[in-house]
Amino acid sequence: MERVEILLTEEEVNERIAEIGRQISKDYEGRPVHLICVLKGGAPFMCELAKRITCVVSFDFMYVSSYGSGTESSGQIKIIKDLDEPLEGRDVIIVEDIIDSGRTLSRLIDIFKKRNPASIRLCTLLDKPDRRVADDVNVDYVGFRIPDEFVVGYGLDYDQKYRNLPYIGVVKFD
Ligand code: IMP
Ligand code: MG
Repeated sequence: MERVEILLTEEEVNERIAEIGRQISKDYEGRPVHLICVLKGGAPFMCELAKRITCVVSFDFMYVSSYGSGTESSGQIKIIKDLDEPLEGRDVIIVEDIIDSGRTLSRLIDIFKKRNPASIRLCTLLDKPDRRVADDVNVDYVGFRIPDEFVVGYGLDYDQKYRNLPYIGVVKFD
């Protein structure tokens, strides 16, 4: 059985999320923000982040699966659950758990842009820049840049496990 080694403690993660929340509150002062959570992994981060934003906030949820083998995502995605509401004229922030190759987000941005939001920004708790393949993904808010290791916790899973951990850990097999 694998074990999990702590990479970022609960305190470090929560403090950083509070900082991002303050930054977003400043950047969007006086304007409502529409947060789009990419399920399932983005949910714990979005809940914590939303509590730290002082603007008017609304939520929506998108669930996509990427066709791909093992841990490698492909360029194609399938929408399993689409948004409930239109994006027309809204200031949208896409909230993700982690950006790896960036392929999933690149496709999502294409889909959302066609729906005419006023603006789209990206917010991710974790970023693995060494793994980036998509060159059109510019992240506006990043919690932590991490090395190329498989991480779990705070929404991220290994085989659907560990999403509930209140910290970020690295999976070790030994
Ligand atoms: P990509 O950016 O299209 O390659 O895929 C990103 C998705 O892959 C994330 O939303 C996660 O669901 C998953 N993923 C990538 N790296 C990790 C990891 O280290 N742990 C858990 N899931 C990961
Ligand atoms: Mg994800």
